[in-house]
Amino acid sequence: MSPPNTRESGLESSAVTFTATDTRFGAGVSKTVGDLLEREGITNPLVVTDEGIEAAGLLEPLLEELDDDVSIRYATTEPSTTDFESVSNGEFDGVVAVGGGSVIDTAKVTSILLAHGGDASDYLGVDAVPGSVAPLVAIPTTSGTGSQATQTAVLTHDGVKRGISDESLRPAHALVDPELTADLPPRQTARSGFDAFVHALESLTARDHRWIESRPITYQGANPASRALAREALSQVHGALERATFDGDDRDAREAMSVGSHLAGTAFSISGLGIVHALASTLGGLTDDPHGACLAASIEAGLTYNLPVRREEYADIARSLEIANVAATDDEAAEALVDECDRLRRSLNLPTSMRALGLERSDVDTIVENTLLQERRLPTNPRGAGDDLREHLLEVEFDG
Ligand SMILES: [Fe+2]
Repeated sequence: MSPPNTRESGLESSAVTFTATDTRFGAGVSKTVGDLLEREGITNPLVVTDEGIEAAGLLEPLLEELDDDVSIRYATTEPSTTDFESVSNGEFDGVVAVGGGSVIDTAKVTSILLAHGGDASDYLGVDAVPGSVAPLVAIPTTSGTGSQATQTAVLTHDGVKRGISDESLRPAHALVDPELTADLPPRQTARSGFDAFVHALESLTARDHRWIESRPITYQGANPASRALAREALSQVHGALERATFDGDDRDAREAMSVGSHLAGTAFSISGLGIVHALASTLGGLTDDPHGACLAASIEAGLTYNLPVRREEYADIARSLEIANVAATDDEAAEALVDECDRLRRSLNLPTSMRALGLERSDVDTIVENTLLQERRLPTNPRGAGDDLREHLLEVEFDG
């Protein structure tokens, strides 16, 4: 029998497409960037990074692997469509991104403009990129967004956060080097790592692919490939996030976060995410708080909203993460997962409610309205979201 609210769209297709960035993972692999470019025949790359990365000393050792006169472009913290006016067509034959999610997103947009010209705003939305882009080598310096593995770039246009989603944006290559995250401060480790944790959890419990109406973007719903990746990602991240946050020198933890966040990014780029991300995007728009903080504030409301249609899956996850007693019923084990997410956000000193971000009961209508508009996230949420979200948020967040 179908769970409630999950099958409005009917059975469309059981086919799954599985695409992943060509990836090299391990301590020190970022130093192979020169060899990679040579092998790919990229002779005049543009390096995209930001000043923080340079100041942290992460850029210099990589530049030593490249030609002396390599050009560098500095990304802003939150890229906007107006940041790209100076990129000219045909100038470079590839892009190397060294940084966190914003840097990699900036590099993705740059690689479109290098191949096709025009303005960044020309490509907003889904499938608006006319063909392949300048090859991108993504070298992440955080363990979080997984942008090095995804087909999407987020940027601000006219004051609103928008996305460019197109299969051609998935980086051609990623060099995932845990050593680059060794000095990431605890706050960023916690926030970006919590993002990776939610990517894995929402990907693993997304609506099944057989019940998703086909759409241009390759968010296909949870499927055998995405589940395998998300399950491993969740195990790695759950086991390492607190250790990496509280002891940045724990190399095993840094390594687990690095590979876990990459697998989580790959998983959700195939499956899509759900209502925790939809709520977090809404909160981010209303409060300007960082993505990881907004996810922490949204996780309890999101998970409990989906609980009626994901009880067994939550219970299985709780047992596999060994946070539920083997003798626990499904109800008890599913509850243990929700409790564990709350414990984790407290332990990491992240916001534990929407009120903690300064939101009030009077904001609930705006939160619901803005969340139900999230076309990118809700079609893959396991429960069809509707007006009953209002009552749920009042109960969980504002009237409790
Ligand atoms: Fe995220």
